[in-house]
Amino acid sequence: DAGAAPFVPEGAPIDALRAAAAGCRGCELWEPASQVVFSAGPPSASIVLVGEQPGDQEDRRGLPFVGPAGQLLVRAIRDAGIDPAAVYRTNAVKHFRFEQRGTRRIHKTPEVHHITACHPWLHAEFGQLSPGIVVALGATAGRSVFGRPVRIGAERGTVLEGAIPDSPAKALLTAHPSAVLRMQGEPGYDDAYAALVADLRTAAAAAG
Ligand code: URA
Ligand code: SF4
Repeated sequence: DAGAAPFVPEGAPIDALRAAAAGCRGCELWEPASQVVFSAGPPSASIVLVGEQPGDQEDRRGLPFVGPAGQLLVRAIRDAGIDPAAVYRTNAVKHFRFEQRGTRRIHKTPEVHHITACHPWLHAEFGQLSPGIVVALGATAGRSVFGRPVRIGAERGTVLEGAIPDSPAKALLTAHPSAVLRMQGEPGYDDAYAALVADLRTAAAAAG
């Protein structure tokens, strides 16, 4: 597939990008999904969070980070001393990728070609935003934001300068909230949640 570029009104403000994204056919993910999920939060935000892709709830409601992983993230943002409403929230891939099993829709991680196809939207968003820091949540977001494969374990939690090819903002890689959510009820959960909060605190301090 050709990717999102032909559908992106380059240089248009966020609201116009959001409206145009509804018509994107840059990869095959638009068709089984209910709708595009673009972004939420003020374009003037000093912190930009980039997730992987919308989940089941996000796909139904058309809003990012409203499902279980999103709720965990919002709690972590608050626990880091940040107002969630002041953060711009978006995703590397803007349609929900899933496998239908009976009545259930099971999340499927996007492939690299989906990340690449959808990147023109994130690029256009970066052109309209001027954050102090961009936080990439997990490996998919990391690949899209940094334009290269990333390893969460080895690279998380460090404030990076000049690491985003299409933005002058600082950047920080951390875990995806779904990865933390999956650990609920396991011994490592408290530490994993605390590490996410600590990374968000680090990001807020660097955002200026
Ligand atoms: N919700 C989103 O919108 N994105 C994620 O990456 C996870 C949950
Ligand atoms: Fe376009 Fe991205 Fe949706 Fe693919 S996932 S159709 S590139 S908006």
